[in-house]
Amino acid sequence: GVTKHYTFEIKLQNVTRLCHTKSMVTVNGRFPGPRIMAREGDRLLIKVVNHVQNNISIHWHGIRQLQSGWADGPAYITQCPIQTGQSYLYSFTIVGQRGTLFWHAHISWLRSTVYGPLIILPKPNVSYPFVKPHKEVPIIFGEWFNADPEAIISQALQTGGGPNVSDAYTLNGLPGPLYNCSSQDTFRLKVKHGRTYLLRLINAALNDELFFSIANHSVTVVETDAIYVKPFETDTLLIAPGQTTNVLLRTKPNFPATNFLMTARPYATGQGTFDNSTVAGILEYQSPSLHSTVPVKNLPLFKPNLPPLNDTSFATNFTNRLKSLASAQYPANVPLKVDKHFFFTVGLGTNPCDQNKACQGPNGTKFGASVNNVSFVQPTTALLQAHFSGQSNGVYSPSFPFSPAHWFNFTGNPPNNTMVGNGTKVVVLPFNTSVELVMQDTSILGVESHPLHLHGFNFFVVGQGFGNYDPKNDPKKFNLVDPIERNTVGVPSGGWVAIRFLADNPGVWFMHCHLEAHTSWGLKMAWLVLDGNLPNQKLPPPPADLPKC
Ligand code: C2O
Repeated sequence: GVTKHYTFEIKLQNVTRLCHTKSMVTVNGRFPGPRIMAREGDRLLIKVVNHVQNNISIHWHGIRQLQSGWADGPAYITQCPIQTGQSYLYSFTIVGQRGTLFWHAHISWLRSTVYGPLIILPKPNVSYPFVKPHKEVPIIFGEWFNADPEAIISQALQTGGGPNVSDAYTLNGLPGPLYNCSSQDTFRLKVKHGRTYLLRLINAALNDELFFSIANHSVTVVETDAIYVKPFETDTLLIAPGQTTNVLLRTKPNFPATNFLMTARPYATGQGTFDNSTVAGILEYQSPSLHSTVPVKNLPLFKPNLPPLNDTSFATNFTNRLKSLASAQYPANVPLKVDKHFFFTVGLGTNPCDQNKACQGPNGTKFGASVNNVSFVQPTTALLQAHFSGQSNGVYSPSFPFSPAHWFNFTGNPPNNTMVGNGTKVVVLPFNTSVELVMQDTSILGVESHPLHLHGFNFFVVGQGFGNYDPKNDPKKFNLVDPIERNTVGVPSGGWVAIRFLADNPGVWFMHCHLEAHTSWGLKMAWLVLDGNLPNQKLPPPPADLPKC
């Protein structure tokens, strides 16, 4: 591999969408941010320089960071944030990974504007396990807020109401023609007939899983979360925040120059669900041979049908179709023996209202969220530094509970006590522990889908189901042959999911719901993986420029 250098200048930039201009935090003045391109085996050196008043940190979402935990990026987990006027050099090597990932700010709600694609091509002379595309196109979904998202979340944390919804979804930063005052901000993908395009789809939205579809076209899914999958055809995709999906789009062999909309809108169940409409881009057939006298903008526009907002059966069918490629070249190394079994409840709950605030959560409380009823409290120094220097006292406790304090029941009424507990607790794992983790939606305040993201690892999704997890019978149905491997998985609404991973990466690894509102309310925790005995099983010392708190 080679070494690739990037510089990210964090600075304010005026950006206009929906006829609303605001000054926002960007990388190099761009929205979405710059695309990082590398190959498997390359080393990336990315210097992040902070010119704004906000503290910043950047996360390379889905990069395994083998023995480079200091470069992972979540603020107060692996590093203190980069303060105004300071810089930090993120340095890591891409080991054994290729595909579509992304990078984003990992502090407060700054990832609403600070994000971009991170594309890893295969090693030189290694081809894709599918037909070579004529062209590759990153498509990154996001959200546009007319207001300052930082202000929205700090308000939501004080009063516990649902945070204001965004004003639009975006596709490559553009809301598209279905919103008011927005048709000038439309992503257009110009295509030729009879070609194959690789669309690299990334959901960087803050708070919504999205359905995506292109009118009159189906696509072939070939990769998710930078792992090849068994190819399958579909009209519509479901992508949760934190997930990526590569699809092949085969354009029609012969078609008059025409426009097709490609659209996305939320899949949402439970508390505070909403659908504030649909982001659209345009697939525009270019046809030198089939001259049309009608200007393209006056041509008919074909619109796709997307599933209804709460279509859990579509979601289930879609996720059930995802299987690892599990070929000789790309095997599925599912851990077959398990050293430690964990059971986590994930979901929303309540916290007491702060004095003199008009709280908007259930019964005058404010919203909280928890894992095994621990709502994670952000420490004031980074967990990884505290661990490395042996000064964890007063920073975190290794006492993360093995079972939830409150039970849950899908058939009964909500429990009398919906309060979450608070704490900064981690699970400590010896090096190379083989972990099985079942995550159960609590449904305490209504059933919800939670896209859980694990830093530092890919995991295998060995099983999922609805209702209460049955530890006696459900494991008999686990798929240990070709389960999907990924870094972000939806805990089904009113159900559970089981994952397995090998803790072969020393460091502190964050795990959280990738719906930013839920993360802010505390749906997060951390795994502390200890060093192994061999030199190549240890976390190296921190870089000299690691930011201080
Ligand atoms: Cu993409 Cu911890 O996040």
